[in-house]
Amino acid sequence: MVWTSERRRGGVGQSVLTDTRFAEAGLAREGATLHLGGVALSTIATRVGTPVYVYNAEAIRERYHALDQALAAVPHRICYAVKANSTLAVLRILRDLGAGADIVSAGEMSRAVAAGFAPDRVVFSGVGKAASELRQAVRARLGHLNVESVEELHCLGKIANAEQMDVSVGIRVNPDVTTDTHPYISTGKTGIKFGVPADQVPAAAAFIARHPRLQLTTLAMHLGSQLSDTEPFRQGIAHLLALAARLQAGDGHPIRVIDIGGGLAIRYADEPSMDPARFAAAVVPLLEPSGYTVYLEPGRFLVGSAGVLVTEVLYRKHSGGKEFVVVDAGMNDLVRPSHYQAYHEIVELETRTAETVRADIVGPVCETGDFLALDRVVPDVRAGERLAVLGAGAYGFAMASNYNTRPRPAEVVVDGDVWWVARARERVEDLYRGELMSPTGSA
Ligand code: LLP
Repeated sequence: MVWTSERRRGGVGQSVLTDTRFAEAGLAREGATLHLGGVALSTIATRVGTPVYVYNAEAIRERYHALDQALAAVPHRICYAVKANSTLAVLRILRDLGAGADIVSAGEMSRAVAAGFAPDRVVFSGVGKAASELRQAVRARLGHLNVESVEELHCLGKIANAEQMDVSVGIRVNPDVTTDTHPYISTGKTGIKFGVPADQVPAAAAFIARHPRLQLTTLAMHLGSQLSDTEPFRQGIAHLLALAARLQAGDGHPIRVIDIGGGLAIRYADEPSMDPARFAAAVVPLLEPSGYTVYLEPGRFLVGSAGVLVTEVLYRKHSGGKEFVVVDAGMNDLVRPSHYQAYHEIVELETRTAETVRADIVGPVCETGDFLALDRVVPDVRAGERLAVLGAGAYGFAMASNYNTRPRPAEVVVDGDVWWVARARERVEDLYRGELMSPTGSA
């Protein structure tokens, strides 16, 4: 079953289900029934209800191994970007593979520790870490903290002194590299909020050199997300290596790690993804002679393809000359189509008809921008039938909200033919716990 498409952008276009796309997720059709790993998705949907996120543990492991093996020629550590999917069961799969973790908040630190990551394998990134978060990270003795401004560095210096703790510091450099991705997720260019501009790095490094408690162990970058071209990585790495050489020659910093960030692209439709072998062929020749340990912070690459969002068709309707398929998952459950005009493949759980329809697939949320797909050719589904939205393992549940007082979906992990509810569906009561209706009243 293959559909083709001319239009991809804006969540728009015809379905383009390809064998590769299915294989990366571990999806397969047995007869009419769509399986993820060894489990029929309709079984999960019936038992747990919809909407429900389902992740394939084995697909995550395959992605990790592919990247790990491709980089075998250089000492490296894959620090999973927790923000992509911070559910404990997913974190545990990655921890068990030997991954480190890249976090951006005290909340993610708690999750990483709860999932069993050793604190010294956790890297703390983020442009706005509060002093309380920095203090917590210092006390927890995290692997290193990537600072993103000179003021943050000063704050960290005060905390290290007050706590009388030595701290490994990374400077996240903004290498001013252009990337071809959605502007909201392009992060390596000057004029955006991320990283220390290259001309401020020497002063930051000099501050660290003078500080009795701080050591500069790492130079870091993160260029953006959903990058399929290797050239920006090569440019950024060359920039970091030149900077590292200059800094070491100057103040003799103990730099051991070059952290090249995340951003490796996956295939949502038929756009190019980042093949690990192609990625390694581009970056290893630069990194290998340097002798540094290489850290990567992939999120989407490891978990994106491995997850689907299963939703049920509530209604069909025809309005203004257009067809609508109204489903029970909305922008609060998966915001990527409305926020980034992202394309997600949508397929039926049970094949019933070869008939197709061109329709907008829309959710129940009270916004015109609440859609999973626009002007998409999909099977001619009826109310009660269920659909899988593919490529939903990264930035899916992690970005879900309670808008319209909608409880967030359940999450299920499939491992071979075993599956379990890794996170129960929220209940409405959970959503207003702790609210006060009056100064003295109770919730
Ligand atoms: N490291 C840092 C410092 C980051 O800011 C990010 C992502 C990553 C690593 C992981 O990037 P990845 O390998 O997953 O591309 N919500 C957006 C993506 C935002 C990415 C933010 N930073 C989306 O749904 O496309």
